[in-house]
Amino acid sequence: MAHKVVVTREVFDDVLERLRAGATVVDNPSDRPLAPDELAVLAADADALVCALTDRIDESLLARCPKLKVVANIAVGYNNIDLAACTARGVMATNTPGVLDETTADFAWALMLGAARRVTEAERYLREGRWTGWQLKQLLGVDVHHATLGIIGMGRIGQAIARRAQGFSMPVLYCNRSRLDAATERGLNARWVARDELLAAADFVVLMVPYSPATHHLIGAAELARMKPTAVLVNTARGGVVDDRALIEALRQRTIAAAGIDVFEGEPAFDRGFLALDNVVLAPHIASSSTATRRGMAMLAARNALCVLSGERPPNLLNPDAWKS
Ligand code: DGY
Repeated sequence: MAHKVVVTREVFDDVLERLRAGATVVDNPSDRPLAPDELAVLAADADALVCALTDRIDESLLARCPKLKVVANIAVGYNNIDLAACTARGVMATNTPGVLDETTADFAWALMLGAARRVTEAERYLREGRWTGWQLKQLLGVDVHHATLGIIGMGRIGQAIARRAQGFSMPVLYCNRSRLDAATERGLNARWVARDELLAAADFVVLMVPYSPATHHLIGAAELARMKPTAVLVNTARGGVVDDRALIEALRQRTIAAAGIDVFEGEPAFDRGFLALDNVVLAPHIASSSTATRRGMAMLAARNALCVLSGERPPNLLNPDAWKS
């Protein structure tokens, strides 16, 4: 009998076609996030889930889906999945590394430039009919070129962000669990430093770490207080890595100059305090959202699911202990 794959959110037609070539597919064209109970009912007899970061994959769901062999997340981040629970049940979990690196790095730069040069604030000013003419001191921003870029989390995406800094003549400071090799550091004009040194010295601080209990509120009031009053913070990592209340307060008090934020604690809900601030550029978790990249992510998730269903090891297995367990 054909395997059943549940696709929890709307994906591209060619991704569904690819899945349909190997399985019976139940999809969710309404694109409404499924409530935990709805998902459990839909996936009760499923062999594979192609899911998104909006789905909680935990023990209570897994217990209700006894046939499940694979959970293929359409994201590189996987803090929505309880990996230990998957492994205990022999369910493979996969993510989509690599395909979104450059697109996400582009967007981190969009937020850096937008926040530093006050792009969204300037547009609002114009749209609201407040522009009466050129002024020397109008909407003064901070320079990006030749500034010091600090990157916290120097994995593939962090390095893609650093590569772009070369074109802006920016030295790079970075924090990462492990140090890059000397040739890569030289190529990126990057120096491995302690987090406090980075926070104190960087003009731009970009966060690119995965979310985990260890990175919860990695940037809070104390860390924001270490930053320069002219500095810009960019969060393209995950909500919860920044203490949003503390950030709002720092932006309000101008203890840092500006921020560019793509991810929020408890999203899609977010602290409405952000809306009262001019010195923040806000986006609804779209750093990887180009057509090509989102298609690539969904296609890779489909490939991971189909590999498992055909008995092959998936390319992006997160819990190797579940393989043939
Ligand atoms: C990821 O891949 O983790 C992104 O946040 C998805 O948008």
